[in-house]
Amino acid sequence: MHDLQCEGLTKQFGRHIAVNNVSFDVPRGSFFSILGPSGCGKTTLMRMIAGFEEPTSGDIRIKGTSVISTPPNKRSVKMVFQHLALFPMMNVGENIAYGLRCRGESKADIARKVTAVLDRISLPGVAEKQVSQLSGGQKQRIAIARCMVLEPDVLLLDEPLGALDLKLRERMKIELKLLQNQFNTTFLYITHDQSEALVMSDNVAVMNAGRFEQIGSPQELYNNPRTGFVAGFVGDNNRWPGRVVTIAGGEARVELDAGGEVIATVSDGNVRAGAKVEVFVRPETISLGEGKDGNRLSGAVDSLLFNGANSRVLVRTTGGNLIEVSHAVMDGSLSVKPGDKSDISWRREHCLCFSVAG
Ligand SMILES: Nc1ncnc2c1ncn2[C@@H]1O[C@H](COP(=O)(O)OP(=O)(O)O)[C@@H](O)[C@H]1O
Ligand SMILES: [Mg+2]
Repeated sequence: MHDLQCEGLTKQFGRHIAVNNVSFDVPRGSFFSILGPSGCGKTTLMRMIAGFEEPTSGDIRIKGTSVISTPPNKRSVKMVFQHLALFPMMNVGENIAYGLRCRGESKADIARKVTAVLDRISLPGVAEKQVSQLSGGQKQRIAIARCMVLEPDVLLLDEPLGALDLKLRERMKIELKLLQNQFNTTFLYITHDQSEALVMSDNVAVMNAGRFEQIGSPQELYNNPRTGFVAGFVGDNNRWPGRVVTIAGGEARVELDAGGEVIATVSDGNVRAGAKVEVFVRPETISLGEGKDGNRLSGAVDSLLFNGANSRVLVRTTGGNLIEVSHAVMDGSLSVKPGDKSDISWRREHCLCFSVAG
């Protein structure tokens, strides 16, 4: 059973197609993210689902019923905006009660529901506080409570962490996931931040220039990207241009533009001998030194990027490519230094190639 289904959804502004034939289903109670760069059409897609924007074509169904001709306030969806849009003149309780009052619910029901939802978001007793007295993280939770008290089938969140500082964003990622679990309501979350999408979601759709490139679990997108765009956008990846020399058994021998040859798994039907491609290898699959089997390039350590457990070594290959290699930290320090000669190696199956135009 699906809480939300979109089919062939398209929105055209003049000659610009902001959302281009997008189809997806969101299972009940799941966390679904739409991930894509700024301007790719995420907000436009969400505004169509909320009913603020009329699709040029396509259908939107909530719990199996088309809502195309249903006005926004009659749709069982609620939207949390990037800047939260809490009413500054009202206290917290009044903010949360606002939607219930608009619905004409009784005073007793409203009071009961406001108390219950504040308990659920672990902020009991803040009803009398002014919005300005809350921290950024608390405001975030109140903005969600204000929607959830109306018991929507789908909660839409448009880059809600965008205005928070990095440390708080990291914490709110986890908190949002816990809140979603607790309410067991379908969340449709849009973001340009791949780590937010990976951490929180059951499923992610990667969007590029109005289209969905791939829908999958975070693990599927990370391990089996189907396009170069997805490989480059989801997680960190080394990315080198090259040209296919030969191709056999699903593997291509690729001559890198910067020199050196590698064997890459072909993940795209357009890759042929002679084709221009991009090769992708994740930093954590590369080892310093010679591997027993697979790909090897020689080079020298260019610089160290110390970042605790996420430390990296930048290796400059003989051909001039700069390669990011994950590197374990021993006793708080890295075991190599700039200028060290070092081969790098990785297994063939960790190397993907996708065709590029031209
Ligand atoms: N009301 C509008 N009129 C004309 N163009 C619009 C309108 N809304 C959005 N666009 C254009 O549609 C594209 C997608 O915008 P948007 O959905 O806001 O992207 P995102 O949320 O992914 O950053 C952009 O090129 C934007 O300029
Ligand atoms: Mg947007």
